[in-house]
Amino acid sequence: MTAALLTEAAPAKINLYLHVTGRRPDGYHLLDSLVVFAQAGDVLRYEPGPEPLHLELKGRFGQVLGHAAAGPDNLVMKAAAALRGLAGPGADVRGGRLVLEKNLPVASGIGGGSADAAAALRLLDRAWRIDAPQAALLAEAEKLGADVPVCLLSQTIRMEGIGETLSPAPALPDCGMVLVNCGQGVSTPDVFRRREGGFVPRADLPESWANAQAMAETLQALENSLEAPARALCPLISTALADIAGQPDCLIARMSGSGATCFGLFPSAEAASQAADRLADAHNAWWVWGGGLFHHP
Ligand code: C5P
Repeated sequence: MTAALLTEAAPAKINLYLHVTGRRPDGYHLLDSLVVFAQAGDVLRYEPGPEPLHLELKGRFGQVLGHAAAGPDNLVMKAAAALRGLAGPGADVRGGRLVLEKNLPVASGIGGGSADAAAALRLLDRAWRIDAPQAALLAEAEKLGADVPVCLLSQTIRMEGIGETLSPAPALPDCGMVLVNCGQGVSTPDVFRRREGGFVPRADLPESWANAQAMAETLQALENSLEAPARALCPLISTALADIAGQPDCLIARMSGSGATCFGLFPSAEAASQAADRLADAHNAWWVWGGGLFHHP
């Protein structure tokens, strides 16, 4: 198997809006969200070998996490264990080394851990010749976490339920995106717990947008229902949002997921990249990225 087939992108997931529409009896929240993926991401590589399967973390945030985070509780290893359960007689399940380059900040609302788990499901399904039906992979993804099914598909999609109900999204216009993370992790359960007020209706979306400006106008009327509680827990989110919104050409600035990463939409990848350079100069301890959206190969 060629090296390319043993490498898998784990792109960052961004919620362009996120409405909390209700709550299930088990406490999980029902959501409505338009999810897109950025060209920023972690990268997972697999080197098959005779030794038991193990994981190594590399990259800026791999070093922050340290060796302890590469154990059996890592979502990548849990995804590998789940896939073994799907392997039929024709499969070629092996051990070896998984190397995860963690370029995305952790616990930051852009699905890093979920994207890693989804990348492991895609990569090992291929490498171990399991060829599981997509429905089976989606079912395993759902067990690994609410955001893992959407990351398994890694394409622009509408996400509802607690994350398991996926349906086609409006066609997106060309646009660019800036991502900014102030370096403070925010706990997802804490943010949900702090949320006040009622539920927000499901959004009414058009079939497509003529351009990024028109998309931003629709998004302005929508919200991330988790932004207010996350800002209360992490005031630097407000600073990040104001600084993104102050960039020339910024169409909208908003928080993704349960935070603390914020995004800005721009008319082009180039405009986003220029804004990211300025933001990185202003906040050199923060994680800042600018570029285009990820399109699944
Ligand atoms: O599934 P995941 O591990 O991402 O969720 C973390 C926590 O966030 C859950 O235990 C729950 O408290 C909260 N959550 C929620 N509703 C969702 C997703 C997550 O209440 N749809």
